[in-house]
Amino acid sequence: MSRRGRGLLQLGLAAGVGLAVPAGAPADPHVDYMLHCRGCHLEDGSGAPGIVPDFRNTVARFLTVPGGRRYLIRVPGSAQSALPDDRLAEVLNFIVRRYGPREIAESEPPFTAGEVAASRRPPLSEVGPIREALLRALAEPTAAPGAEAAEATTSPSPPRTSAAPPGGTPGAVLPPGPRRPTRP
Ligand code: HEC
Repeated sequence: MSRRGRGLLQLGLAAGVGLAVPAGAPADPHVDYMLHCRGCHLEDGSGAPGIVPDFRNTVARFLTVPGGRRYLIRVPGSAQSALPDDRLAEVLNFIVRRYGPREIAESEPPFTAGEVAASRRPPLSEVGPIREALLRALAEPTAAPGAEAAEATTSPSPPRTSAAPPGGTPGAVLPPGPRRPTRP
């Protein structure tokens, strides 16, 4: 980013504006978080009890249930932000790694621009019931598939190759029978 660009960004931060995304500006997910998310979610991710959920040690858990990744993209704060798809993907990656649990965030594939583009619309109109269903699925890891089990792709099993050797049963050659005792 040019010196001037960065200066403008900082000015925007200081003034509490900055929702316009300058075209071509390099993505710094932390700066994007500060400009677009921190107002409600706060720097430490704690949110506002009863209104804005606490990200800490929780947000990455959604990655482990069917429909959870898409949920993180489709909540209005994400989906309706001014961020383009690639930068929203980076901010979501930043959020799940920073607020964790980090081991989960690191063991799941990162969000990509393509995934965000495919899932962003339409944004969720009613978050509550979907969030509750996901939390229930999280509480019972072995329970029935969650909201969007269709996310899981079914891979066809590879064609079976015959393991039988050609030419019949192995070991068909029997050992010779007991010899007749030869008379002296
Ligand atoms: C105007 C306040 C506000 C802003 C700004 C905001 N959010 Fe949110 N966010 C919320 C609220 C409120 C919820 C709870 C769900 C709901 O009611 O939309 C939430 C929920 C979330 C969740 C789901 C967390 C959970 O535990 O269910 C994610 C992920 C999220 N926001 C990401 C973001 C991102 C990314 C940004 C910035 C690009 C952002 N939010 C900006 C208010 C905001």
